[in-house]
Amino acid sequence: MSVHSEIKRITTHILQEMKNRGEKISCLTAYDYSMARIVDAAGVDLILVGDSASNVMAGHETTLPITLDQMIYHASSVVKGVKRALVVVDIPFGSYQGNSSEALRSAIRIMKESGAHAVKMEGGAEIKESIIRVLSAGIPVMGHLGLTPQSIYKFGTYSVRAKEDDEATKLIEDAKMLEQCGAFSVVLEKIPAVLTKKVSEQLTIPTVGIGAGPDADGQILVVHDMLGINKEFKPRFLRRYADLDTIMHEAIGQYVADVKAVDFPNAKESY
Ligand code: KIV
Repeated sequence: MSVHSEIKRITTHILQEMKNRGEKISCLTAYDYSMARIVDAAGVDLILVGDSASNVMAGHETTLPITLDQMIYHASSVVKGVKRALVVVDIPFGSYQGNSSEALRSAIRIMKESGAHAVKMEGGAEIKESIIRVLSAGIPVMGHLGLTPQSIYKFGTYSVRAKEDDEATKLIEDAKMLEQCGAFSVVLEKIPAVLTKKVSEQLTIPTVGIGAGPDADGQILVVHDMLGINKEFKPRFLRRYADLDTIMHEAIGQYVADVKAVDFPNAKESY
């Protein structure tokens, strides 16, 4: 038996079992093979190939510019580095909102061309038809409610969503709709902690929070943010687990100094 076959892959059913027994689900983003290997080996349950790649990898201000082809490229790199985690891929802006046939086509391309295990779509009632269509093809769908960055120009700001009763009521209805349609999980982004608690108690499927307090069934962060690679982004919900910006800066600075001083490569590092 190979080492690989001993690793039990995380499935949507396993995530459901985790919620059922009260075990929190750990999630992080990854966009490339090397990072995905590290994130997976460290024991993260779900890896999201987020369209935050548009910000973090491509340097865009929003998630809107990233294309379906680019998401598939990132996703197929991640899949190659993952042995255990469930790999979920964001369907990017403009690839599913138009109509449900386009949503299905985009989801099928992601699954076929990247080898990922599920897709994520932002929105509630307004994309219900697309969600049903994708699910009907046997593709697991993760929902995403609250602050949905693909709609940033509608919101106008990245501030906390659903603080008012109307929006909170709609969010609860949308979350229930996603569950009824067959979504396996829902991301709740930047909403009040009390609302997260309510939604997580009312749904049987797991919720995954980001800036949504401690009562979601799982938590997700953008890996570059929590590792301190991207230091400009510092919202209140973000906990930094490392300062890789400083570590990398110092290491690269040392390399430059060594090259300039003709200290690298030395005799042992030469053939
Ligand atoms: O694109 C992304 O990284 C996301 C997470 C922040 C949930 O959607």
